Amino acid sequence: MAISSTSSGLLCNFMALSMLSLVIISTRHEISARPVRHDDGVGPSFGSYRRYLLDNGLGLTPQMGWNSWNHFQCDINETLIKETADAMVSSGLAALGYEYINLDDCWAEHDRDAKGNMVPKASTFPSGMKKLARYVHKRGLKLGIYSDAGIQTCSNRMPGSLGHEEQDAKTFASWGIDYLKYDNCENRGISPKERYPVMSKALLNSGRPIFFSLCEWGQEDPATWAPSIGNSWRTTGDIQDNWDSMTAIADLNDKWAEYAGPGGWNDPDMLEVGNGGMTAEEYRSHFSIWALVKAPLLIGCDIRSMDNTTFKILSNREVIAVNQDGLGVQGKKIKKDGDLEVWTGPLTDHRVAVVLWNRGASPANITASWTDIGLNSAAIVNARDLWEHVTLASVRDQIAGWVDPHACKMFVLTPQY
Ligand SMILES: *[C@@H]1O[C@H](CO)[C@@H](O)[C@H](O)[C@H]1NC(C)=O
Ligand SMILES: *[C@@H]1O[C@H](CO)[C@@H](O)[C@H](O)[C@H]1NC(C)=O
Ligand SMILES: *[C@@H]1O[C@H](CO)[C@@H](O)[C@H](O)[C@H]1NC(C)=O
Repeated sequence: MAISSTSSGLLCNFMALSMLSLVIISTRHEISARPVRHDDGVGPSFGSYRRYLLDNGLGLTPQMGWNSWNHFQCDINETLIKETADAMVSSGLAALGYEYINLDDCWAEHDRDAKGNMVPKASTFPSGMKKLARYVHKRGLKLGIYSDAGIQTCSNRMPGSLGHEEQDAKTFASWGIDYLKYDNCENRGISPKERYPVMSKALLNSGRPIFFSLCEWGQEDPATWAPSIGNSWRTTGDIQDNWDSMTAIADLNDKWAEYAGPGGWNDPDMLEVGNGGMTAEEYRSHFSIWALVKAPLLIGCDIRSMDNTTFKILSNREVIAVNQDGLGVQGKKIKKDGDLEVWTGPLTDHRVAVVLWNRGASPANITASWTDIGLNSAAIVNARDLWEHVTLASVRDQIAGWVDPHACKMFVLTPQY
């Protein structure tokens, strides 16, 4: 089956780009507020955007962990969080890099105390956050919390931090919090470009490195202004646990690829893998694309009781390695023929990751030629199939795969010299 390329001008030289980026990333900590990647001078494709970074040293690779919202919404408590931390370790997921245990909405009392402090909800977090953080830290994990750049959070059950940024950041730091997801409800119509930098600064002044995850829903194109104030920024509205939502979000997030990189990532929202609304193949596609596009890998299911299929997807260390690759370049959709798509991105050591994704209803053969994906046309590669765990030796010209409906194949191509 012939697939016509829809993207000319994508013949980026991965080799030159990856060498350059490696050199620059290795000096990441030495200079603050400076461009992290330079124009490679080849074309408008990967990594040509200049930007300044939030200088908290965090998020050099996309964050990995768990968040309570997708599965539990407001039904959270300290027992659940502790059991989740335990399951993260006992399942082996922690050892694969999933480190953040993140509370979402509804952890606090409706009102601040007499001194204006946020207070953990006594009925669900009776031991307080300091103890919870200690519990999580003892297991080698990190604790994340949630607030909102408005006067209340989205549940309307607890206060937001608008006007209390310094105080709340100091409170979070005093509890030992490592991560803040910062939502966008009840914002009084004030521009996010005014509201989010205030919390960013407060976190930097809090005395503790706290990962800053902006949840602005992509309303005012945060990719264009958030890299200097946050470690990740949502590019879309909330994901739902179904194929249409997941694919739509993947497409919306794609256009911001150039703005992502070590220290700051586009966030197409948390994973739904294991929540039951998609098939195993759909979840495999979800996880593969999120990994390729350097999205945060924040698990959204109940890991205390996940089934084997869910665990197998979330624990694929070869797919995780693509997400966590040191080059930190977001992969992109580079070819589309109806429902048949090719997504690709460069990795360290001149390797290239490729996803052949069948978004249609019937099985199909999908092909990506070396020119499609920016490899030298004479290249001979070893192609590692990341889901079959087999290596095809000495592949020339193109990689092709017979792909089931809503499924994908994912490869890492390593040129042989
Ligand atoms: C804690 O939350 C979980 C998940 O919603 C729930 O199953 C459990 O009953 C709750 N435990 C307590 C003590 O409230
Ligand atoms: C799931 O995995 C466990 C541990 O590997 C195994 O004992 C169990 O039989 C598996 N269950 C199914 C339904 O395959
Ligand atoms: C898929 O397409 C490629 C390229 O046209 C071809 O070489 C390969 O034989 C096809 N595979 C199948 C299973 O049809």
